[in-house]
Amino acid sequence: MSDIDRNQFLINQQPYYRPVSNEVALYEAAYAARMPVMLKGPTGCGKTRFVEYMAWKLGKPLITVACNEDMTASDLVGRFLLDINGTKWQDGPLTVAARIGAICYLDEVVEARQDTTVVIHPLTDHRRNLPLEKKGELVTAHPDFQIVISYNPNYQSLMKDLKQSTKQRFGALDFDYPTAAIETEIVVHEGGVDKATAEKLVQIAHRSRNLKGHGLDEGMSTRLLVYAAQLIGKGVTPQAAAQMALVRPLTDDPDMRDTLDAAVNTYF
Ligand SMILES: Nc1ncnc2c1ncn2[C@@H]1O[C@H](COP(=O)(O)OP(=O)(O)OP(=O)(O)O)[C@@H](O)[C@H]1O
Ligand SMILES: [Mg+2]
Repeated sequence: MSDIDRNQFLINQQPYYRPVSNEVALYEAAYAARMPVMLKGPTGCGKTRFVEYMAWKLGKPLITVACNEDMTASDLVGRFLLDINGTKWQDGPLTVAARIGAICYLDEVVEARQDTTVVIHPLTDHRRNLPLEKKGELVTAHPDFQIVISYNPNYQSLMKDLKQSTKQRFGALDFDYPTAAIETEIVVHEGGVDKATAEKLVQIAHRSRNLKGHGLDEGMSTRLLVYAAQLIGKGVTPQAAAQMALVRPLTDDPDMRDTLDAAVNTYF
């Protein structure tokens, strides 16, 4: 058995999450059915914050794994490690989550190779188990266990996509940047600026989002708006804050940078 304390993965303080639609109720229903959930949406739009909030609301431990292309199945499932007494099995994060009944959040799962992704298959259908082949153990998932994955559909090439047999194991929720009124509320709360300043930051973001596909891969995220607001809160002028937190991270192209700087200057 795992000697890991599930309490260390509990979220004790309520994370601030501003619902944008009926995603909270839908997620609760999916969790009640122990349905695996996929969160789709652009960077910095609230996916991670949402999972943290839901884990807190449901009172379940949360184990997050940031996926990347170098990740192997062993990184998820576990491996034998050498120590002075010989070899010792160490559970990977997915195995720990299955044993203790955590919500296992696989962030940017399409980054992982397909042979890695398939290890979640038996956990995401009626079997709800995880074979540890090297160890010769079949772990039956705890009744509270659930898998959540996230990905950004805009970044996927044809090379990198989830197999249909993986995709069709999940219910999916679409995320996007919220409406101006809600995004302003988030920037006020997270960045600690006044409403008028937050409104201007949001308007600048809208300008940039309209340039998506016209020289920009992606518009300014809610995360960047929060960064800009935090700089303003530290005494940086709004103009300099917007340049540093909104414009410079987005583009290396001098013309596009000037276009965005000009947008900033019309508001500040
Ligand atoms: N609905 C929301 N309620 C509260 N805060 C939000 C919301 N949406 C975005 N935020 C703010 O935006 C920041 C970025 O959100 P988050 O980290 O959840 O993005 P993400 O979608 O997980 O991005 P990535 O795909 O890059 O991981 C949060 O730290 C939070 O300050
Ligand atoms: Mg995230």
